[in-house]
Amino acid sequence: MRHYSPIDQFLIHADTALRTLAGKPLATHRPYPADDIEDCTMDAAESKHVAGLMRVNHSGEVSAQALYQGQSITARNKAVREKLQQAAQEENDHLVWTENRLQELGEHTSLLNPLWYMGSFAIGAFAGALGDKWNLGFLAETEHQVVRHLDEHLNKIPASDRRSRAILEQMKIDEARHATTALDHGGAALPLPVKKLMQAMSKVMTRTAYRV
Ligand SMILES: [Fe+2]
Ligand SMILES: [Fe+2]
Repeated sequence: MRHYSPIDQFLIHADTALRTLAGKPLATHRPYPADDIEDCTMDAAESKHVAGLMRVNHSGEVSAQALYQGQSITARNKAVREKLQQAAQEENDHLVWTENRLQELGEHTSLLNPLWYMGSFAIGAFAGALGDKWNLGFLAETEHQVVRHLDEHLNKIPASDRRSRAILEQMKIDEARHATTALDHGGAALPLPVKKLMQAMSKVMTRTAYRV
């Protein structure tokens, strides 16, 4: 295993941040879930609504990437760090897929993504510093909340928009697996007030990213 100096580490994280916000994220080679699914016709209002939801999901993935990167700099256990990096690569698939769908709908990603990235990186680094048990517990809770949120979006997206639905369905499967992995590696259940605070913070993001 290579040893990285603090400067190497800084450069790796700066590279990841730039790739997440403006470049080509390092994704796995899984196919785009909407491949082979015929697009539907939506009226302007419907299409705008779906784009708003996809923009929220894209920003969520920007945040997920930043959380994982933040957590991985402070996580102590090597096995945990490796798991975090692996999951982060799958989050990059989500990032690419949601951005693809936004482009198909003729819309842009959230202008506030740099803000979500910085905030989430700091929260991730803080969670990582609390030790692996809480770090993984935080991760599991985040992923559970994302799964519930994806379910809400699946209820809001028109049944005819099978392309968007296929993407969100695959993301849901991945996020649930990330949560299970985190719990299997010793993640603790978070206190209720912390869960509530996390929900309140994600609400701010989802409301804003829908529009901006
Ligand atoms: Fe994700
Ligand atoms: Fe995830």
